[in-house]
Amino acid sequence: MQKPKIVVTRRLPEEALHLLREEASLYVWESETEPIPRDVLLKEVSDAAGIVTNVADPIDREVFDHAPALKVVSTMAVGYDNIDIQTATERKIPVGHTPGVLSETTADLTFALLMATARRIVEADRFVREGKWKSWGPMLLTGPDVYGATIGIIGMGRIGEAVARRASGFAMKILYHNRNRRPEVEQALGAEYRSLDELLTESDYVVLMAPATPQTYRMIGARELSLMKKSAVLINSSRGTNVDEQALYQALKEKRIWAAGLDVFEQEPIGADHPLLTLDNVVVLPHIGSASIATRTKMAVIAAQNALAGIKGEPLLHTVNPEVYEG
Ligand code: DGY
Repeated sequence: MQKPKIVVTRRLPEEALHLLREEASLYVWESETEPIPRDVLLKEVSDAAGIVTNVADPIDREVFDHAPALKVVSTMAVGYDNIDIQTATERKIPVGHTPGVLSETTADLTFALLMATARRIVEADRFVREGKWKSWGPMLLTGPDVYGATIGIIGMGRIGEAVARRASGFAMKILYHNRNRRPEVEQALGAEYRSLDELLTESDYVVLMAPATPQTYRMIGARELSLMKKSAVLINSSRGTNVDEQALYQALKEKRIWAAGLDVFEQEPIGADHPLLTLDNVVVLPHIGSASIATRTKMAVIAAQNALAGIKGEPLLHTVNPEVYEG
């Protein structure tokens, strides 16, 4: 009997591909860094039972329309804003994702970005490489302190909490804003709840950890940036759409905030001509929050397991839309 087909939109670690191959016939887009061309995706899903994808490939209504036999979509990510969940749910197609395994790794990167931005690590590296280091200077490449400063975390989910634990090790005062209060985090880490405006006004480091939803779309815009301290740093390793990039560019250019560290952008990838890249007070990364070897491998394996469960009609390990199982 022929094995059901799964379309894998990016080459995954061998551990995951091996699992998938045991029970499915695979179409794998072999590049690890180039996205699958749209026409190839639409053609390949026409007889597919499953899709294994990632944050960079839009799985929209058109993809679902081209995939009449589709039984599961599985993304190698915790975020799923690139997938049309409403259409999937209407069509009773479960969507799998990979929460949990990436929280600590993403918090590590978030903190690394915070430290690099505050202490001007990238600028300092460039400075040395460009032969500009002539002598030690009392105020050369100075930045704000991290230890003992106030951090405001917007979005106190698993990753937000992991960032808060790191902040606690740096004796930071921890503020947070979230849809719901988190008494256990308040108790364990001394985190204090604030309204969004209070958090923006009081924090030295504003760290965005909220998912991309219609409610969080450009939640940090010109008004919010104007509430931040002139000495404050904005860190975003959640989703680029949470920030109005044009407003951020203006605030950074006019030095109305100190700096920003960004792992995510409104449109990814950004080109080398992006206006933010003209500014020294910005550290940019190419969406690598969860990019440790171990974590990315675990994510790929869970994505494979979700896809295999889905093609067999079994419950996924982590389902974004469990409503598909009702009725
Ligand atoms: C996610 O999982 O949503 C990240 O953005 C990619 O690791």
